[in-house]
Amino acid sequence: MSGILDSFGRSINYLRISVTDRCNLRCIYCMPPEGVPQISHSEILSYEEIRAIVQAAAELGINKIRLTGGEPLVRVELPELIRMLSRIEGIEELSLTTNGVLLKEYALELKQAGLTRVNVSLDTLKPDKFRYVTRLGKLEAVLGGIEGAREAGFEPVKINTVVMRGINDDEVLDFARMTSKDGWHIRFIELMPFKDVAEFVPSIELRKQISLLGKLEPCPDFRGITGNGPAMYYRLAGARGTIGFISPLTETAFCSRCNRMRLTPDGKLRPCLLGEDEIDLKVPLRNNASIGELKRLILKAVASKPARHHLGEGNIRLVNRKMSQIGG
Ligand code: 5AD
Ligand code: SF4
Repeated sequence: MSGILDSFGRSINYLRISVTDRCNLRCIYCMPPEGVPQISHSEILSYEEIRAIVQAAAELGINKIRLTGGEPLVRVELPELIRMLSRIEGIEELSLTTNGVLLKEYALELKQAGLTRVNVSLDTLKPDKFRYVTRLGKLEAVLGGIEGAREAGFEPVKINTVVMRGINDDEVLDFARMTSKDGWHIRFIELMPFKDVAEFVPSIELRKQISLLGKLEPCPDFRGITGNGPAMYYRLAGARGTIGFISPLTETAFCSRCNRMRLTPDGKLRPCLLGEDEIDLKVPLRNNASIGELKRLILKAVASKPARHHLGEGNIRLVNRKMSQIGG
């Protein structure tokens, strides 16, 4: 098995790279209406710098890369980065998490550049609510993006839905039906309480609701789609698509399946999304660090991964970073 073993026996084979903190939406749980102060261009890693980090990570056994943001498609010439990363030996999966607004326009080019998978974040299927939740967006554009991705040959396209009590929890069944109707693969995510927008809804409650539509069969090992990672997967009888639950707040074993680290736009490795620790790669890179030196820093970050987060214990602040600078 590839990957780097951490101090708790987890195999870390996945790096999520936030390529920009900028976004063309302002989701209520992520950003204030005016946006957040932006990291200046000179602080942001260049594509060449990202390539060097991925080269070092791949040599250590990282085989999955995901590009996130902010919104990754607002960074200029993202397909060029994908082309660069797809040529690195050992990288088996190269995926993108996007809000979908620009996806229709880019889907084919991304596919041709070597992107293997796309996840689209979508919290509501109602146009008015979409405008409320994202403050800027048009639902139509995202639905077009999902279609465009499929037409370009991305299959499956996964949909990530953050569930907020009193805002979109009335649409859970509509989303679940899309797995039968349209073959969507949906993942419901418990809202992490970084901003006071709404209460989260425990996954168990969603599962009960959805079982009104039929039995939810566990789908633990649907290779290529479910893989490893934090979600637990199920399927409605006869549905092409799956329904996943990501339960950072209610699942005690959540962190024991952690397989990832994160890289911020300004070149810091974060061993844990919810921790404070960061290991700087940018300064070493700009001082001509060798691949060997980068590997040493990556190993140091893996070794400092904590056993688990403490979200359930009232420790709920991302003190030193905004979600839009980490990429979820
Ligand atoms: N809780 C859960 N998920 C979040 N995301 C952003 N903020 C939060 C939060 N507070 C998700 C987005 C997207 C991914 C990049 O991170 O909805 O799916
Ligand atoms: Fe942008 Fe994603 Fe934050 Fe929404 S959640 S504002 S799409 S970065």
